[in-house]
Amino acid sequence: MIHSVAASHAKGKSATDTIFGANAAAVKAAAQYGNEAVANATLGAFLTEDEKLGCLPTVEKVFRTLPANDIVGYAPIAGLPEFLEAVIALTFSDHKPDAYIEAIATPGGSGVLHHAIWNYTELGDTVLTSDWYWDPYETMCTDALRKIDTYTLFDEEQHFNSKNFSEKVKALLAKQNNLLIIINAPAHNPTGYSLTDSEWTNVLAVLKEEAKDETKKIILLVDAAYLDYAGEKNASRSFFKQFGGLPDNILTIVAFSMSKGFTMYGQRTGAMIGISSSEDVITEFVNINQYTNRATWSNISRACMKTLGIIYNDKELLAQVEKEREEYVRTIRARADIFIQEAKEINLKILPYIAGFFLSVPVQHPVEVCEELKKENVFAVPLDKGIRIAVCAVPCRKMKGMAAKFARAIAAVEG
Ligand SMILES: Cc1ncc(COP(=O)(O)O)c(C=O)c1O
Repeated sequence: MIHSVAASHAKGKSATDTIFGANAAAVKAAAQYGNEAVANATLGAFLTEDEKLGCLPTVEKVFRTLPANDIVGYAPIAGLPEFLEAVIALTFSDHKPDAYIEAIATPGGSGVLHHAIWNYTELGDTVLTSDWYWDPYETMCTDALRKIDTYTLFDEEQHFNSKNFSEKVKALLAKQNNLLIIINAPAHNPTGYSLTDSEWTNVLAVLKEEAKDETKKIILLVDAAYLDYAGEKNASRSFFKQFGGLPDNILTIVAFSMSKGFTMYGQRTGAMIGISSSEDVITEFVNINQYTNRATWSNISRACMKTLGIIYNDKELLAQVEKEREEYVRTIRARADIFIQEAKEINLKILPYIAGFFLSVPVQHPVEVCEELKKENVFAVPLDKGIRIAVCAVPCRKMKGMAAKFARAIAAVEG
């Protein structure tokens, strides 16, 4: 009997998605006990206070009034020019780095990660990210026959652990010539952390030191999926300026996504922005990533790219979108504040949350604590070192009392 016909590199792979698994359990509980009894803190999508999927009204209006040609037509492989212009301008705002900068459209931020792994690391290389990370980073590296290693995100004072970051960068560059580093900031998934400008300066100091050896190529991928939820527009973007004037053998790639910032999760639209002091590196960036677009998914959603182009080129529409999103940001902040305040009152340890869709509680036995939480109809996502709570998805009324439920579940499991 034949049980497998897969090629050797594909054999045995199967995606057991903890996030969608936890969500399924929450949906089942809601059917059994009624929706009001259940807090579903699993999925990374913004739900309104009445638990409807948030869709920015102005984005929806522009999208729905597109002519048929812009919905059904192909787009250029590299992306629509007006979309790419908008991506760069909206990402950097007043803090555009002084460098050569180009963008290539991809299906969301996921597409950026795929291309960065494929085009900037060798087969078998190790990619570096922090110990708290979005699971698919590992899936993507493994699928592309790369490995993943982590540095400890926080030091004892709960600040960015520059020391361990530096040690890991050095150790990996001693073994391989290309190093891809993924930093998800600002508003990190799963902790909600944002590096300060001086922490970014430290990160770049480490990379500049290592880049003195010109046989080394360092690719810093800033996964900015939650940028639009990170705080005041220009303050949360000020770190971008630091990516100008770097050595030629450091390439910065910013992953732009319309999923969260424009509530277009399912439309699969994003872009990779390359930033370099070398014009040749940026020409190469455009060429190789456009090529890999053609080689993997061809082009991406014309309709969604067009939508962003229209919004960007109409100041009133853009202001309206920002105003609508501001309301979402305030709502998420209020939900997080409830948890943070209650946690403080009962001495429940949480990781430093600055902004964004998630906050995390460090625990020794995440799976067991999540099981215990289910008894209280609280559903969250177990990670390696703790539990992720999607504050983007839980209304304020259900956030109330949640910290105490966590404390009880942790006490029941860990004593
Ligand atoms: C940390 C992080 N990076 C990237 C993404 C990519 O999302 P998309 O491919 O929808 O843009 C997500 C989505 O959940 C995310 O949480």
